[in-house]
Amino acid sequence: MPNGLRGVFVAESSLSYLDGERGELFIRGHDIRALVEGVGFEEVCCLLWTGRLPEPRALRCLRRDLGAARVRAAEDMWLFSVALDAEDPVDALQAALACLPASERRGDTGRDGKLRIVAALAVVAAAWWRRSQGQPLVAPDPALPHCEDWLRMLGIDSMRAARVRALDAWMVALAEHGTNASAFAARVVASTRADSVSAVLAGLAALKGTLHGGITRRVHSMLDAIGDTGNAAAWLERELESGRRLPGFGHPIYRARDPRAAALESAAAQLSAAGEPTRYLALARAVEREALRLLGERYPGRRIAANVDLYGAALLDAVGLPPELFIAAFAATRAAGWLAHVEEQRASGSLLRPEHRYVGQAPLRRLTA
Ligand code: ACO
Repeated sequence: MPNGLRGVFVAESSLSYLDGERGELFIRGHDIRALVEGVGFEEVCCLLWTGRLPEPRALRCLRRDLGAARVRAAEDMWLFSVALDAEDPVDALQAALACLPASERRGDTGRDGKLRIVAALAVVAAAWWRRSQGQPLVAPDPALPHCEDWLRMLGIDSMRAARVRALDAWMVALAEHGTNASAFAARVVASTRADSVSAVLAGLAALKGTLHGGITRRVHSMLDAIGDTGNAAAWLERELESGRRLPGFGHPIYRARDPRAAALESAAAQLSAAGEPTRYLALARAVEREALRLLGERYPGRRIAANVDLYGAALLDAVGLPPELFIAAFAATRAAGWLAHVEEQRASGSLLRPEHRYVGQAPLRRLTA
């Protein structure tokens, strides 16, 4: 039986194609690097949910409707108030979604239902952050693109276009990535014909685990701890000597460099070229150089390369997103992908019901203590 279902096909999907050997990722046929460079989050939502990038008019409609959904989520804040008391922002997102009325969830399969979920996650994450900082909530502005408005609601300077563009690039890079643990969890729930909110809650629960959504924050802590390019080699060597894994390196599928690492390195470089402080970009590059050397010496012949989280952490730091919100931001982005998986799984009509290989006690003839 393959360890952790590696290499087992559980569904047919036309959402994303990953080539681990070559380090390539295509979303509905589009190279991730071209998407990160050329489109924003709303366009990727449209691509994931309809199979095509939107024409300008359709994009305007989508922006308008997503803006309206953010306003509605803010108006529903009384419904989510219990969520804002959660200690952890991902707990807050889970609690908020669980508060969406069952009557609404029944009809949530269309585009409006998807927009409602994506908007609610962004609005609640921002509200949770503002409240945790003792700051008043910032009302959404439905006329703005989603990413720009989200930064505004968080209280981060959204007037700096380069920052907005960088966060948008990160959201595009992270919106979908095959049948990973959280997408699989969402698919399992969708396969039972439960509603989309329940499926997204399953995705959120899986993402929260330290092996999935938490690595960007661990990379950020690593960069904090190293502090300066001159310290990188010694710090990394100490970590490896202590038997610890280096966050931001290695991937279950990619043997070559994760293509999203390249896309986000370039997005962070563009941010720097626009005059924004990117204190961890040079450090992340030095860490990559030294880590590849050390990992190559330690595991000759094994290809362990930089993954999305290495430059994701440097980029989010430069945008000004607090590390406490990294997983919540990931969830508010990846929800677009989960919802596409949910729809695909529903359309397949099959109930995901694998089996286990029994390794327990042989059948007993009578009850024994
Ligand atoms: N640092 C140090 N050693 C590593 C690293 C790393 N980042 N990645 C793999 N190795 C070593 C392992 O210790 C292992 O050595 P061993 O055989 O002596 O035990 C060997 O390389 C192969 O490890 P596997 O676990 O077989 O590699 P796999 O490809 O299955 O693991 C994983 C991938 C879990 C992502 C691993 O590389 C890792 O733990 N990386 C660090 C955490 C990280 O950045 N995770 C984000 C990945 S992206 C995502 O969201 C899943």
